[in-house]
Amino acid sequence: MTDQATEAGRDTEPDIPGKPTSASRTTLSHIMTHSDTNLLGTVHGGVIMKLVDDAAGAVAGRHSGGPAVTASMDEMVFLEPVRVGDLVHVKAQVNWTGRTSMEVGVRVLAERWNESTPPTQVGSAYLVFAAVDADGKPRRVPPVMPETDRDRRRCQEAQIRRTHRLARRRAIRELRERRAAEGFED
Ligand SMILES: CC(C)(COP(=O)(O)OP(=O)(O)OC[C@H]1O[C@@H](n2cnc3c(N)ncnc32)[C@H](O)[C@@H]1OP(=O)(O)O)[C@@H](O)C(=O)NCCC(=O)NCCS
Repeated sequence: MTDQATEAGRDTEPDIPGKPTSASRTTLSHIMTHSDTNLLGTVHGGVIMKLVDDAAGAVAGRHSGGPAVTASMDEMVFLEPVRVGDLVHVKAQVNWTGRTSMEVGVRVLAERWNESTPPTQVGSAYLVFAAVDADGKPRRVPPVMPETDRDRRRCQEAQIRRTHRLARRRAIRELRERRAAEGFED
């Protein structure tokens, strides 16, 4: 659907009651084992990404009241290695909502099994989920209602990311169209 069509449709649609951020905020915790490691013996990044997608998906499903699919994942950052035995906590919340999509922010923390220090932040990511109906078509989501100053800041930052994602997508689409019109095959 085009952005214009989305905007035009919005004017005629009935309002959906909003949901506070805390209604869907979730923490998923998991102990890392030997089967999660890479060749260096630390935890494979893909294992962490799966947990991030799982936690964000749970939040998106909870917020939207039904199925939601991952549309994109960006700014996945790994700050520190995770080791076997660490208890990993993946904290996720809805930062922003559009018409049918939501940005979910995720923080990954590790409790070191052999240290009595507070959990260390080891990663973070932002994911966009689209709520879908039984046919896989996008459906509307309730607006998220930020409750704290931190929630409001995250919502504002999510809007900046949204603007950049759309601009980047549009610029790449236009470049490809120009190149196709000029006769390039790829
Ligand atoms: C995500 C999906 C439902 C979008 O369907 P679509 O027909 O392109 O629908 P739309 O263009 O109306 O997009 C729906 C919403 O998602 C957003 N969206 C779609 N692709 C996006 C992307 N790459 N990045 C960010 N947002 C995206 C749109 O902006 C729109 O949000 P809005 O309604 O809040 O403005 C569809 O592409 C899909 O099913 N993808 C596969 C999802 C999946 O299987 N995920 C698991 C991967 S293994």
